[in-house]
This record gives sequence, C-alpha cells and structure tokens, in this order.
Amino acid sequence: MKQTNLDTTPLFSTVQLGPYTLKNRIVMPPLTRSRSTQSGDIPNDLMANYYEQRATAGFMVTEGTQIEPRGQGYAWTPGIYSQEQIEGWKKVTKAVHAKDSIIFAQLWHVGRVSHTSLQPNNAQPVAPSAIAANNVKVFIETTSGGGVLADPSEPRVLSTEEVSELVQMYAQAARNALEAGFDGVELHCANGYLVNQFMSEHTNQRDDQYGGSLANRLRFLKEVVAAVSDVVGSDRMGVRFAPLFASTDETRVYLGLVESNPHHTYIEAVKILEKAGIAYLSIAEADWDNAPDLPKDFYQAVRAEFSGRIIYAGKYTVSKALKVLSKGYGDLFAFGRPFIANPDLPERIANNWPLNSADPITMYGGTEVGYIDYPYYQK
Ligand SMILES: Cc1cc2nc3c(=O)[nH]c(=O)nc-3n(C[C@H](O)[C@H](O)[C@H](O)COP(=O)(O)O)c2cc1C
Repeated sequence: MKQTNLDTTPLFSTVQLGPYTLKNRIVMPPLTRSRSTQSGDIPNDLMANYYEQRATAGFMVTEGTQIEPRGQGYAWTPGIYSQEQIEGWKKVTKAVHAKDSIIFAQLWHVGRVSHTSLQPNNAQPVAPSAIAANNVKVFIETTSGGGVLADPSEPRVLSTEEVSELVQMYAQAARNALEAGFDGVELHCANGYLVNQFMSEHTNQRDDQYGGSLANRLRFLKEVVAAVSDVVGSDRMGVRFAPLFASTDETRVYLGLVESNPHHTYIEAVKILEKAGIAYLSIAEADWDNAPDLPKDFYQAVRAEFSGRIIYAGKYTVSKALKVLSKGYGDLFAFGRPFIANPDLPERIANNWPLNSADPITMYGGTEVGYIDYPYYQK
C-alpha cells in the first residue's frame, strides 16, 4: 500500500457500532492464519499475542472460526464448538480488551469447500446441492506434518432437517462466542462458503423451501440471522458479503458469483439485514490483481437500503478509504494484508509512515515467524 502525505484524520474520529464506541474507523478484517493448537483446533497464547498486537484497530474480527467440525475447510483453523476452544478464545478476548479494542468472532461454515480428510470420519463435505467446487484449492494436513493444497471433495446434499439443525448450530456458536468474551459475532456469508452457497443459483439447486426462488435461496441467511440475533442481539452482530459481481468470469464460479442478476440478489439480501436491524454490513470487494471496483450504483443502493454501519475491504488504500468515506458510502475500512504485516497499522496511517509488506509464504500455518514478528515502525 503506497503512503503519501494525506490528511488521514477522518479515519480517526470515534464511531458508534451497535453499543460500542470505536476508537477509530480502521478495521482488522477476518484473516485465516491456521495456527490453532492441535489436536482440537484450539486458540492459543500465540494467537492471543497476535491479536493483542493488532488491537490498535478500532474494530477487529477474528479469522473464520468453524461452528462445527464439518464447517472446516482448511487445516489448523480454530473452532468455536468445544469447551477447550471457548477457553482458548478467552485468552484472545482478554488480551484484546486489555488494549481497548472491540472484537467479534467470525462464524464460519465452509459447506462444500472442504476435503474428506478434514471431515469427521472422512465423510463427504455437506452442501446445499451436490455440486463440487472447482477452481479453488483447500489446504490440508499431510502425514509429514506439512500442509498441501488439494481439490475440494464432492459434497453431499443436506436434508431439509439438517439445514434447520445448522441454523441452531450457528445459534450455539454465537452463545459460545459470548461465553468466550467476544463483543459480538460476524456471520461469514461471503467468498463462496455455506451461506453464500445457499444464496447463489449456481450452487443451490434445491427443490425444498431453501432453493428455487430468490426468497427461498435467501431463507437460510434469514433464519441464521434471526437465530443468532436472538442470542447476541441484533446490535451486536454483522454480516459479511462478497458480491464480487464486477466480474462474471467463469474461472471464478467457485465463489458462487455467476448469477443472472447479482445486484438484485445482494440488494434483496441487504433488505433482510436491514429488517433484522443488525449493527453492520461488511463488504469484501474483489481483491485480486487488477480487480474492478464495485459499480457506483451498487455502493449507492447499499447505502440507501442499509442504515447500520458499512465496512468496506479489498485492496483498499488509505486514499480510497478516505474517498469512500467522504462520499458517505462506507463508515469503516478494513485492511487485510496490511494488518498482517503491520501490527501498528493505524499509527502508520495516521503519520503517513511506510508499511511492511506481508509475506505470502507464512500466511497459513506455521510458527510465530511471519505472525507476531512483523516489526513496529522505527523512526
Ligand atoms: C491470509 C488471508 C486470510 C483470509 N481469511 C479470511 C477469513 O477467514 N474470512 C474472511 O471473510 N475473509 C478472509 N480473507 C479476506 C480478507 O478479510 C480481506 O477481505 C482481503 O484480504 C482483502 O483485503 P486486503 O486487500 O486489504 O488484504 C483473508 C485474506 C487473506 C489475505
């Protein structure tokens, strides 16, 4: 991210998010780092240290955290369904609160984006329809102890009854998050994972009440939002979408974005969130090289339909954040890779100091290297 002499003060005003007053508008978005303790996918002291370093952010969301064993699609990602995991997360929330930040848990279920080796009893992953994810790799553990990329396995279809059970699993995970000391939860409804698989006509070809019409495809989202809201309160929850509809490139089918009318799909989904009164909507924009911006009419439509806070992310520069803030489209701005590499990111932004860049080799799995050893700025 290039730094210039920008007036960054608008990013440093306090802002209300549900019941919380955030110290700045800079967000650490969910970032999978695959460093939980094995066996059991348990959050640990190393993770607490990593989050504590980055509690310079006004608002933080944990890495995707599986709500049940079948919800895992990559090796060593943490869970939030066992008592040991809840105890592990308490270390993280305690460390972050001591540094005066606010942290939500990102509740994650990967659905079909998984591999039999990550599933209980090496079963098939579960999904709305039996359509395998292609053009995507998952990260699995090997017997030699390392990690390796693999194609997702062929999923099996969830029965209607199992879909209702999953709604309750989200509610239970939200209960666990509160027990672990989180300030709230974010539902991962982005990037082609389970909720997104229900939303997309490409991945959802069901003929029960969860498939077919748009209202049916949005039913799972609606039920999960309602069930989680009953547990944590609508003002302590957010939802993350990745509309990504600037491209209809077939190679990105796995993201579930090949839809006849994504603008309509996502604006209808936003209306559900508005009705539920949730605290925020997080929008992950396309983040690959040369990614197109979201169309202006989409930013405007989201703002018109949603009265809560809006977080944007996806290759954001400080100047883009300032521009989107000044136009009134977004309220908070998340920086992913910059936060991986700069624990003191807000201070660097405030002072226009240069940024470290993130090392892709140490992103997923491994030790403290490339995790808690990124240097703070030295004058
Ligand atoms: C290593 C890595 C892990 C990520 N893990 C998650 C995740 O668990 N959940 C999620 O919603 N997004 C995840 N993302 C997406 C980021 O939250 C963010 O949207 C993306 O990195 C774009 O922001 P950036 O360009 O500032 O890095 C991940 C991104 C990276 C680079």
